[in-house]
Amino acid sequence: MTLEISRIDPFDDDAVDSWWDAYAVAERADRGPEAPLWSREESRMELQQNSRVVERRAFLLRAGGTVIGSSSLALPLKDNTHVAHLAVCVRPEHRRRGFGSQALALLEAEALSSGRTTAQSTTSWPYELGPSGAGSPGREFARRHGYALALGDVQSRLPLPVDPAVLDTLAADIAESIAEYDIRSWVGPVPDDVVEGWAVLDASIDTEAPSGDLDIEPVKPDVSSIRESEELIARQNRTSFGTIALAPDGSAAAYTQLVVSGDDGNAYQWGTLVRRADRGQRLGIAVKLANLRMLQHEVPQTRAVYTYNADSNAHMLAVNTLLGFRPSERMGELQKRLG
Ligand SMILES: CC(C)(COP(=O)(O)OP(=O)(O)OC[C@H]1O[C@@H](n2cnc3c(N)ncnc32)[C@H](O)[C@@H]1OP(=O)(O)O)[C@@H](O)C(=O)NCCC(=O)NCCS
Repeated sequence: MTLEISRIDPFDDDAVDSWWDAYAVAERADRGPEAPLWSREESRMELQQNSRVVERRAFLLRAGGTVIGSSSLALPLKDNTHVAHLAVCVRPEHRRRGFGSQALALLEAEALSSGRTTAQSTTSWPYELGPSGAGSPGREFARRHGYALALGDVQSRLPLPVDPAVLDTLAADIAESIAEYDIRSWVGPVPDDVVEGWAVLDASIDTEAPSGDLDIEPVKPDVSSIRESEELIARQNRTSFGTIALAPDGSAAAYTQLVVSGDDGNAYQWGTLVRRADRGQRLGIAVKLANLRMLQHEVPQTRAVYTYNADSNAHMLAVNTLLGFRPSERMGELQKRLG
C-alpha cells in the first residue's frame, strides 16, 4: 500500500490530535503504559511556537485513508546548523510493512535539501534490554537504516517525596565544602541579574557532558534563546525551578534546572553543570539538592523526577544514586551522516 505523507498545520487541531495520538500509541507500545511522554498540549504548543532557534515540521502518515503514524523534523537555526533531528512513529498494527522506512526517506531528503549533513534521532527501550538495545523496534529499525548508536543514555526515576531527613543529612555533609558559594534558587524565569552567567553554563551543557560520538558543536551563549524557551514553558503549563551557585567574584559556577509538567505531574531534570574550575567540591549535588528541596516545598504533590544521563557518566549517576534515583529505562542517541 502506498504511503501518503502530508505536512500538518500546527493550528489544525484535528491534524495535531491525530499526529500526537500516533506518537503516544507508538511510544507506549514499546515503552509501556507508564512511559513519560510529552502531553498532547505540550506538543501542540511546541509545534505552534514561532521559534527563532529551531524550525519544526510535523507530518501525518496515511495509508488507505487511515492515519498509520506520524513523523517530525527539527532544524536548529542558530548553532549546529549541519544537524537535523528526525522522528518517525508507526502505530503497532501497521508496522513491518515498510511505512517507517518510507517516512524516514522523506525526512532525510528534506534534511539534505535544507543543507543538513548529520541526521540525529532518539529511541527508548526497557532498561533490562541492556545498553545495545538489541531487539527493540526503534534500535533495529535505526540499525537497518545505517544509524549508529552515538551515545547511550540511562533514564533514572526518583519517586517523590524524598524523606526530608535524607535531604538534611546530605545538605549537612556538603555544607563546609560549598561554604564560599552563594546558592540561589527561584521558581519561573531566570532572574535578570544571573541570566548571562546561566546562559554561559547552559550553552556548554551538550558538549561538556559526555557526548559520545555525537557530531555537535558548543552553542553560543544566548539570553534570547533562554527567554524563548521560557515563553514556551509558560504556554505549555510547565513550571521551571532553577538553582545557580555563584562564586565569591559573582560569576556563575554551577546550575541546575527542573521543569514540572502541569499535565502529567512529573518533574524533568534539564541541564546540570559545574564549571571546570569549580569541580570536585560537591557543587553538583549542592545545586541539585537545593533545587529539589524547593520543588518539594513549592509543589509537594509532584510524583517523580526523571533524568537522563550518559551511561558513561559515572559521576553524575553516582550523584543521582545518592539522591535516591534508580535506573528506569534506556535511550539511544542515534546518528547518521547524510549525502
Ligand atoms: C521504529 C518504527 C518507526 C519502525 O516502523 P515500521 O513501519 O515497522 O518500519 P519498516 O517496516 O519500514 O521496517 C524496516 C526495517 O527495519 C527493521 N525493523 C523494524 N522493526 C523491527 C523490529 N521490531 N525488529 C527487528 N527489525 C525491525 C527491519 O529490518 C525492517 O525490515 P523488514 O520488516 O523487511 O525485516 C516503529 O517500530 C516505531 O514507531 N517505534 C517507536 C518509535 C521509535 O522508536 N522510532 C524510531 C526512532 S525515530
